[in-house]
Amino acid sequence: MHAKFLLPLVAAQAAWAQTLTDVLASQNHTLSTLIGLLQQQPDLVRTLGGLSDITVLAPSNEAFSKLLSDPAVAAAVQSTPSLVPALLTYHVLNGTFYASALTSLTAPAFVPTYLTNTDYSTVSGGQVVEVKAENGGVTILSGNGASARVQGTDFNFTGGTVHIIDSVLSIPPNLTVALTQGNLTSLAGAATKANLVQAVSDIQELTLFAPNNEAFAAVADVAAGLTIEQLTAVLGYHVISGSVVYSSDITNGTQAKTLQGSDVKLTIKDGSVFVNQAKVVKPDVLVKNGVVHVIDG
Ligand SMILES: *[C@@H]1O[C@H](CO)[C@@H](O)[C@H](O)[C@H]1NC(C)=O
Ligand SMILES: *[C@@H]1O[C@H](CO)[C@@H](O)[C@H](O)[C@H]1NC(C)=O
Ligand SMILES: *[C@@H]1O[C@H](CO)[C@@H](O)[C@H](O)[C@H]1NC(C)=O
Ligand SMILES: *[C@@H]1O[C@H](CO)[C@@H](O)[C@H](O)[C@H]1NC(C)=O
Ligand SMILES: *[C@@H]1O[C@H](CO)[C@@H](O)[C@H](O)[C@H]1NC(C)=O
Ligand SMILES: *[C@@H]1O[C@H](CO)[C@@H](O)[C@H](O)[C@H]1NC(C)=O
Repeated sequence: MHAKFLLPLVAAQAAWAQTLTDVLASQNHTLSTLIGLLQQQPDLVRTLGGLSDITVLAPSNEAFSKLLSDPAVAAAVQSTPSLVPALLTYHVLNGTFYASALTSLTAPAFVPTYLTNTDYSTVSGGQVVEVKAENGGVTILSGNGASARVQGTDFNFTGGTVHIIDSVLSIPPNLTVALTQGNLTSLAGAATKANLVQAVSDIQELTLFAPNNEAFAAVADVAAGLTIEQLTAVLGYHVISGSVVYSSDITNGTQAKTLQGSDVKLTIKDGSVFVNQAKVVKPDVLVKNGVVHVIDG
């Protein structure tokens, strides 16, 4: 008798006011690893429970086993207690984005997350993820081009919605690591020579137009003759300090003031973005303190 009476009530309540914890638990067959990680982070769970208007990107059990099978990652998780909470907050988007809004995107969107721990990101308003509608579904891009596919959508709760993703997102690395990952060795070498690596890494809101190795090779003779002051000025002309300009922010004819003092002009031709005469060959590489666009000149 009791059970019969209680069941419909419980079901009705669940439909009206599912908390984030309830919704995750309802998908325990896919999300038990995430649930286990959250159980070890009571402060974070309390914070998340108090938020509204959020979208949680919930990595599946398979996503976590892929990630944790990398011994370097497993070791980092053990040795750096702040890493798991930082990583989990990077999966919480500021805003409620139902699947319909994501699949109908006509251009990549850069969506702020709750990753605001300055050890991991100094981008104001929270580090971003890149969201793209692709092949009838949704792709989420994060650090070092890591790509996750949205698998299950619109598990709604009182504070927003949850989408299940097939890979764990990657917190964008610092500039030094990003230059190495991107094979931008000539730029890294020039910046080291001009003693600019630390200064540019310390900029809180950075946009860097990063010439690739071919671009440096093309001006090798001239570059070799530059004094340190000249090199500093040339490199400074590739840096915007104080604003993070994603490709979605660029409209044809945008001017931006560089660290060196002069403006660069951003134009759009045949679907490609140009910085003055140089073409952006790889846009939107996310870094701890902003964004890098790789250019060919
Ligand atoms: C969730 O799934 C895990 C792993 O399969 C299992 O150990 C646990 O008992 C499940 N929890 C609930 C509440 O069903
Ligand atoms: C979330 O976005 C809103 C504006 O849409 C902003 O007012 C708020 O400060 C943001 N929250 C965080 C934690 O950045
Ligand atoms: C969640 O809410 C959205 C927007 O109201 C709706 O489209 C979607 O169907 C809901 N999901 C479920 C499982 O009820
Ligand atoms: C960049 O990150 C790497 C790896 O986490 C670290 O070893 C290095 O010291 C950092 N560099 C700077 C300039 O912060
Ligand atoms: C890195 O740059 C060098 C020099 O330009 C080039 O030979 C090499 O193929 C590049 N590697 C990758 C992975 O892009
Ligand atoms: C952008 O502006 C330039 C002139 O500055 C023009 O040649 C070009 O066609 C414009 N691009 C678009 C996409 O409108």
